[in-house]
Amino acid sequence: MSYVLPPKGILQTEALKKYIYETSAFPGEHEQLKELREATKKKYGNLSEMSVPVDEGRFLSMLLKVMNPKRTLEVGVFTGYSLLSTALALAQDGQITAIDKDGEGYEIGLPFIQKAGVEGKINFIQSEASSVLSEMLSNDKQPEFDFAFVDADKSNYKHYHEQLLKLVKTGGIIAYDNTLWYGLVAKEEDEVPEHLRIVRTVIMEFNKLLSSDPRVEISQVSIGDGVTLCRRLY
Ligand SMILES: C[S@@+](CC[C@H](N)C(=O)[O-])C[C@H]1O[C@@H](n2cnc3c(N)ncnc32)[C@H](O)[C@@H]1O
Repeated sequence: MSYVLPPKGILQTEALKKYIYETSAFPGEHEQLKELREATKKKYGNLSEMSVPVDEGRFLSMLLKVMNPKRTLEVGVFTGYSLLSTALALAQDGQITAIDKDGEGYEIGLPFIQKAGVEGKINFIQSEASSVLSEMLSNDKQPEFDFAFVDADKSNYKHYHEQLLKLVKTGGIIAYDNTLWYGLVAKEEDEVPEHLRIVRTVIMEFNKLLSSDPRVEISQVSIGDGVTLCRRLY
């Protein structure tokens, strides 16, 4: 990918982002998360913006500690910042099934996951996510997840939503990342860089779909690049 990604998220002033990061996100960041974040930046440069930012990592961690889920799913791992945040937040018997079509990023993050002592909680599957989810759905004994975090190809979010509503328990949470798409959902199309327009439209349609889906209760959280939490109602 040769495009330059804009700064992550909806905090449009660098000063406010710096304030939040320095006051309440960087202090106390787990040592291996920090190391993983730095290794990702070193290896991928601007593309490291794909990782969930540190304030969002902390939010996910807090949510998971409150929920105390036993089985979780992650779609879209990259080098594993959200994955390691999840693994550190889960209780000792918590499990994560993590899917990414690419294995290179996971290889970069794995040494830090191992050093943090949480590799045993993770089952990494290198594959197209929709085929893994289809296979789970076709099993006689389908897995039941308490929590799923989706941070992969936005054009498939609609499809993942249908699959996940069958795999995540009633009362469980599905969290979709990037639902404010760099804040561009609120801009006029001609203000949006051309290479970000198609996904912006996809995200805007997905947001509408979620807000009218009676099967879920939603909360749009304005952190990072926007995370929409969906609680399965039935
Ligand atoms: C934004 S990154 C994930 C960032 C990650 N959550 C983190 O905190 O570092 C998106 C990832 O989704 C993966 N991906 C994209 N399309 C996919 C698909 N169809 N199936 C599985 N993984 C996919 C990409 O390989 C990439 O690693």
